[in-house]
Amino acid sequence: MLGEEAAHKLEHRIERRIMSSGLRERKTLETFDWAFQPGLDKSLVLELARLDFVRRHDDLVVTGKSGTGKSHVLQAIALRACQQQMTVRYARCVDLLDDLYAGLADGTYPKRLRRWAAADLLVIDDVGLGQVKKREDEPTAAHTLFNLVDRRHARAATAVSSNIKLSAWGKYLGDTTLAAAILDRLAMHAVRIDIDGPSYRQLVATERAKQRGATLPDDSPQP
Ligand SMILES: Nc1ncnc2c1ncn2[C@@H]1O[C@H](COP(=O)(O)OP(=O)(O)O)[C@@H](O)[C@H]1O
Ligand SMILES: [Mg+2]
Repeated sequence: MLGEEAAHKLEHRIERRIMSSGLRERKTLETFDWAFQPGLDKSLVLELARLDFVRRHDDLVVTGKSGTGKSHVLQAIALRACQQQMTVRYARCVDLLDDLYAGLADGTYPKRLRRWAAADLLVIDDVGLGQVKKREDEPTAAHTLFNLVDRRHARAATAVSSNIKLSAWGKYLGDTTLAAAILDRLAMHAVRIDIDGPSYRQLVATERAKQRGATLPDDSPQP
């Protein structure tokens, strides 16, 4: 039994971990509608949420179309890891790259790289979403990401989500060879999940449209 003060301190520590993880939303698996996404192996996700893969320094690669719940699942796992007192870093791929590029500009790159590399669990969300900026005189996104993934490889767990096919990473990240090297490392000890199913965003949009339609008074002009 924890004393009240100890419990309070623990709660405070967990809150700090969540705040510094980069998670902006607190998604949980309790709020995930499994029936909506029957192609997703619920027991595998629940098993992953027990975080043994993080303790084993394994990786996780989740692919699927937009709106299938990739970010939700990874954010929920990341939140669990915070609650288990792990050091977590979460970022969308483009934001992580922006952070490292900012470090190249002001000399803080080594420090930033170390910070991303040191987390027990690093979540790189939404690879393939958004424009990876191509900058003159700077390493490609593939190069930057490779440095990070190589540092973490077999030392700490990295979870990645992608809405593009893994075979399209080379084009997206600007270097086919290095993209293949990243995927090689991730694939070596990775759990792979492909969510082949409908978009929850689409569902929400359809429901909203229906609701708007339903609340129109009978005598209102049709749009
Ligand atoms: N099966 C689901 N049950 C409940 N909410 C879901 C489900 N799938 C997705 N969502 C919600 O829909 C939105 C889009 O999902 P997200 O995880 O961001 O998709 P993706 O990352 O695959 O594009 C989020 O708000 C997410 O919480
Ligand atoms: Mg996403």
